[in-house]
Amino acid sequence: MVKARKYVVKNHFQGVPKLSDYEIVEEELPPLKDNEFLVKTEWISVDPYLRAYNSQINAPYDQFSFQIALVQESKNPDYPVGTRVVSHKGWCDYTIINPKLQSDFLDTVYTLPDLKGLSNSLALGAVGMPGATAYFGFLEICKPKPDETVVVTGAAGAVGSIVGQIAKIKGCKVIGFAGSDEKVQWLEKELGFDKAINYKTADVAKALKEAAPNGVDCYFDNVGGELSSVIINQLNVFGRVSVCGSISSYNDDLDKLPKASIVQPALVFRQLKVEGFIVSRWRERWSEAFTEIITWILNGKMKPREHVTEGFDNLFKAFTGMLAGENYGKAIVKV
Ligand SMILES: NC(=O)c1ccc[n+]([C@@H]2O[C@H](COP(=O)([O-])OP(=O)(O)OC[C@H]3O[C@@H](n4cnc5c(N)ncnc54)[C@H](OP(=O)(O)O)[C@@H]3O)[C@@H](O)[C@H]2O)c1
Repeated sequence: MVKARKYVVKNHFQGVPKLSDYEIVEEELPPLKDNEFLVKTEWISVDPYLRAYNSQINAPYDQFSFQIALVQESKNPDYPVGTRVVSHKGWCDYTIINPKLQSDFLDTVYTLPDLKGLSNSLALGAVGMPGATAYFGFLEICKPKPDETVVVTGAAGAVGSIVGQIAKIKGCKVIGFAGSDEKVQWLEKELGFDKAINYKTADVAKALKEAAPNGVDCYFDNVGGELSSVIINQLNVFGRVSVCGSISSYNDDLDKLPKASIVQPALVFRQLKVEGFIVSRWRERWSEAFTEIITWILNGKMKPREHVTEGFDNLFKAFTGMLAGENYGKAIVKV
């Protein structure tokens, strides 16, 4: 019998999630049935969508997220003992998986990709869901051309830092917005962004005008709100906006969402294309993104960064720290 621990979300969050919204539940896992396998968790992801989806799900529920685990016992020939799997089993230290029971994208289970010697943990970041988000959300929707000017918000985060680096690889001029001077330094000095701007202290409209005097062609939007309105109002004719997320409002009451400046005149007169997406749209093609991203990392064109918190007991701290902007690159927890 294996004793497992998992985080259960007890209720809907009000504002920033609180530790008291969670309960750590211990349970004895039952013997395996056919097709099932038992895994021991090694890495767990903490992501903004854990906050964003909370209001849409009936509580209590087990805290989902992507995680990497090692198969310890198996009654499934496709997942023998010693296999590493990426699944959406979330914040638990041991669990039983039956891949046949997958009902939708969020029940996804797959064997860890061949990372060619890179850290397994990258399968939660650059070579995982966030990497696929950056790759398809940017390339398929913005369709960037060399020498175009690309703006990305949430630029120092998991998705944004990969979008900016892909844009550089594609020969674009890249401007990133992030929440501290240290992040700005990292983006410009280490990742080769042409310009990075601290959205918390800068006069955003003026700083962007100076950084992109000829206007912006593509905008990858991770944050929404007023910052996005300012950027959209500086897009060129036939500019493209890929709307990935709106983290600036995730902790807000859905009935009292913040107001932002009007963007419709820019959409009409500059004939902009604005498209939202969910990365599951390209689920069948994720491996294409992974193969290309691994190659970029191995040949030094892309530098993925991870923000690692140690310990199962620190998952909540890692989650709220990420929401508050403590992370550079992908926020993950080593169990
Ligand atoms: N559509 C999809 O399929 C899909 C898939 C994955 C992720 N997403 C979205 O992509 C976005 C980025 O996700 P991620 O996993 O890469 O997270 P992340 O950027 O690694 O972490 C979140 C970051 O958001 C920034 N932030 C927090 N509050 C903010 C605010 N009020 N205004 C502006 N920035 C704020 C913080 O950085 P600063 O220090 O810069 O503030 C923080 O580090 C999120 O909106 C997420 O929901 C969408």
